[in-house]
Amino acid sequence: MGETKKVILRVKRQAGPKHAPRWEEFALNWRPAMNVIICLRDIAENPVTRDGKKTTPVTYESNCLEEVCGSCAMLINGKARMACSALVDSLPQPIRLEPLSKFPVVRDLAVDRSFMFESLKRVKAWIPIDGTYDLGEGPRMAPETQEQAYPLSRCISCGNCLEVCPQVNENNAFVGAAIISQVRLFNMHPTGAMHARERLEALMGPGGIADCANAQNCVKACPKEIPLTESIAEMNRQAWKQALLGWLFG
Ligand code: SF4
Ligand code: FES
Repeated sequence: MGETKKVILRVKRQAGPKHAPRWEEFALNWRPAMNVIICLRDIAENPVTRDGKKTTPVTYESNCLEEVCGSCAMLINGKARMACSALVDSLPQPIRLEPLSKFPVVRDLAVDRSFMFESLKRVKAWIPIDGTYDLGEGPRMAPETQEQAYPLSRCISCGNCLEVCPQVNENNAFVGAAIISQVRLFNMHPTGAMHARERLEALMGPGGIADCANAQNCVKACPKEIPLTESIAEMNRQAWKQALLGWLFG
């Protein structure tokens, strides 16, 4: 019997936000259709490094396992992507796993993406409704608008577009492409449009759309192929229009 094929994984470990990072290497038994999450589960089952040292299971986030929840984003061989859809056979080895670098590390590969969720709150990325009584049917949405809105609604808040954006850094409060695109989505909705002005004002404030430097990395890193540069261009247009109207009639 031949030797079992191995998958070699290098994982950046960090016990907590204040601890120094370190690397650990693992040799796992290859199986067909293995993805990075399966590798991390195998390590959890038998947390022993390649040189035989007992260690702890690697901390990471995941939930849906089908590129829907957005929680498993990490750097895989230096690229921001989803661990659940990263197939081992398509990756050069050793496979290097690191946490996203633009968010604070909680432990190992798990990061705190609160910045993104706070930004979504800041731009009111929702449609406010009074849920205490039946409001009846909402306004109808034209099929053409639905077609434009659907791709935007696929955002899974993974943070990959923020990770690859040079404007998202410790010296800048830029909210990032996902947030701008969500403003476009909610402003497009017939009910959401009632709060379009407030969302635009938030986007025209500090860390808003004016901080985009047009690097266009975001659109290439998005696992859901959201037309992010198109959203940024459209929101720039809306922001200019609102600024001009404010200047003329304000
Ligand atoms: S826009 Fe794309 S890359 Fe950015 S958070 Fe949403 S799904 Fe992730
Ligand atoms: S586990 Fe949900 S996107 Fe990967």
